[in-house]
Order: sequence, then C-alpha cells, then structure tokens
Amino acid sequence: MTLSEVTLPASDPAPPLTTRAAQLQAVLAADRRHHLAFPGATDLTYPDLAAVLSSQLLNNVGDPFEPGHGRNHTKDYEIDVVRRLGVLFGGHREQVWGYVASGATEGTVHAVDEAATALPGLVVYASTAAHYSVAKAARLVRAPLVAVPADAHGRMRLDALRMQLMRFRDRPAAIVATVGTTETEAADDVAGIAGLCDHLGVTRRRIHVDAALAGVPRALLPAHQQPPFGFAAGATSVVVSGHKFLSTLMPCAVLLYPRRPVTAGTPVSYIGAADTTIAGSRNGHTPLLLWWSLTTAGGLDKHRARADAARRLAADTYERLRRIGWRARWQPPAFTVTLTQPAGRLARPWVLGGDQHTGRIICMPGLEAAWVGEFLDDLRAAALARTVVPMPRPAGNTSGEQGCLS
Ligand SMILES: Cc1ncc(COP(=O)(O)O)c(C=O)c1O
Repeated sequence: MTLSEVTLPASDPAPPLTTRAAQLQAVLAADRRHHLAFPGATDLTYPDLAAVLSSQLLNNVGDPFEPGHGRNHTKDYEIDVVRRLGVLFGGHREQVWGYVASGATEGTVHAVDEAATALPGLVVYASTAAHYSVAKAARLVRAPLVAVPADAHGRMRLDALRMQLMRFRDRPAAIVATVGTTETEAADDVAGIAGLCDHLGVTRRRIHVDAALAGVPRALLPAHQQPPFGFAAGATSVVVSGHKFLSTLMPCAVLLYPRRPVTAGTPVSYIGAADTTIAGSRNGHTPLLLWWSLTTAGGLDKHRARADAARRLAADTYERLRRIGWRARWQPPAFTVTLTQPAGRLARPWVLGGDQHTGRIICMPGLEAAWVGEFLDDLRAAALARTVVPMPRPAGNTSGEQGCLS
C-alpha cells in the first residue's frame, strides 16, 4: 500500500480515525526500510513526551533567552540545548547564544543575514558542494554568491578561495563552510579558511559552518580523527540539524554563536521578547526532543556509540558493494556511501536519492544492517540477471565512485 492509498476515496464510508492512523503508521513503518538515502536518524523515540507532544500548544516566539509574556513555551530547555551544543563546539556555556530553528536552512539564513547587517557590502562564498540553502540565504540578503570549486573529495579548494578573496579584497566576506556535504559528507577545512583570511588580512568576515548532518557526530570524535571546525578553529556560527543525527523525528536545527550577535533584534512589546530569530512563532516541541535526545540514557556517550555503530555499517556497506563489483565510494568517518546509480529494475522500491549518476546509502542510526543487506542482495541478483546495469558516467567526470578515500 502507498501513502496515497491510505486516504480512501470520498465515496467510501470513513474508517474510524484510529484505523486510519494505524494504517498510516503501518505503511510508513513498512516503507522505512527502503529509504536508504535519507540522512535522518530514527532510532531514538520519545514515549515519555507523548502526552506533551500531542496535547500541548508550545510556542517559543522571540528570543529564547527572554521568556516573553506567555508561559506555554520551553525556552528553559531551549537554552540548555544551546548551551550544551555550544560547549561541544568550543563555546563558553554562559556566553553562547543561539536558538532552535526550523531547520539548517533557517540557521544559515540567520547567519548570512547577521553578516550582511553587520558588514554592508558583503560577499558570500561557499563551495560548489555546499547545500542549496546557501544560495537562498545570499539571495535573500541580496549579496553576491561566489561559488568556490570543490576538490575530488568534495572539499572547498583553498587555493581557489584565496583567488576569490583577493578578487573582492575590499569587501567583507561571509564564508559558508560545510562539514558533511550533502553529496559525499566531505568536510571543509575551517581552520584553513580562517588562516587564509588572516593571511590575506580579511578581518571583516564571518565563517559560518553548515554542519547540518555531520556536526555532532564529528565533534564527538577524538581530536586526532577530525580536524576541529568549531569556534576555536575560527567559526563565527555553527548550525546542526536535530532530525539528522540527533533523531528528533521532526525537522529542526540548532544555530549557535559563541556570543550574542551585536545586531540582535529590538524588543517587541506584543510578545515581550526581542525579535532575534528569523521565524516569528517557533516550535516549542522540538527543543524538548533535542533535550531528551541529548541528555537521557547516557547523554553524549550514547551518541558517540551510535555514531561508531553507524560508521561500522557504512564501512561494511562499502566493503560489500566492492565485493559484488559495484562502484562505490566512502570517505571515513562519513556515514554516507555513494554508489553508481543502478539503471534498470530492482526487485523492491529502493530510494537511493542523489542524481542520475550517483546514489547514496546514508548509514544513519536507525537504518538496519538487514535492510542494507536486502538491498545488496537485490542489486547483486539484478546485476547478475542484467536487469540493472551501472548508469554510465558523463564523459570527463573524474569525481565518480572510485574507492575509499581515507
Ligand atoms: C549540509 C546541509 N545543509 C543544509 C541542509 C538543509 O537542512 P534543512 O532541510 O533542515 O533546512 C541539509 C539538508 O539535507 C544539508 O545536508
């Protein structure tokens, strides 16, 4: 059954709502195993919060650090989430500022808007592998966006950034670095970007780190396994998603600054708080999900273990693809394994995302090894029967799936 089949035609007698909800749950649960390319963890659930989530209106409107007129909000939890994650990225617990946004896009829009307000004449820089939200943010603040080429690993090329910064050396810069690109989960060199700016005398600058997918799991790695990308490395803001690694099950993100930006908004008497966020009314449930995810049942140690297990699944998936002779690529410590898109028919409706040439298996916590195994069995059987073949790569493309780039 597909999702649309759950909604019965108007002429049918309406089923009881509990039946409809149970059907919806059954369809979604059965289809979950096919979504290999969705970078959202689903292993943490929140039964303790069921009553609050399903029966309370919670609106965190305005600045999280100002309670405002209403009491039906969760700003205390939101502040604690901001402080916990702010510390993880090298901030001081009492100084960090930020908020729980609707998603990483909103976080990047906030950071680019802050930069454009504080630094008139701003130019935005991001790599060609950056998420499309960066172009949206630049467009919204009417700032030019300079696309910096990425290298074969998917990382921003610092030699190319240098050339562009020199070209616009009279103008302030907002460089959006990505830690965990959407396509290959590559990480830009934040400290290298900051060092380059220092070297070129680009002092009127912001370095926003879009760490939507990989920010939390990589910050939990031992220092020698992941170059730092937080505030100590030169970031002036960081955004991480809640529904990706932290398994909040509904879209959200946490935007973090080492301290409150100077351009913070003015008080609004109607809400009793300053208007410092992009959104007006804000979700009061997602800070609870984030807080539960971050603090319960082992806290950050639990998240470290989840990340390690996800990487083991990624390593195993890559190895098994190689063994069946299907072109694949994996860059530890990523959760993402890219593979040549199968052209043809597979036994089940696997979702590999990506583009025409490259698909993805993103080994997020919650993706079961057995489901990946089922896909690999289908792929192997179809390849042997030649009902699928690897999609040919475009001529001249050297960045396809070649191997493990460690
Ligand atoms: C690197 C990166 N940045 C930003 C986003 C956008 O996040 P959202 O859809 O929550 O706004 C994504 C989403 O996939 C992403 O992978």
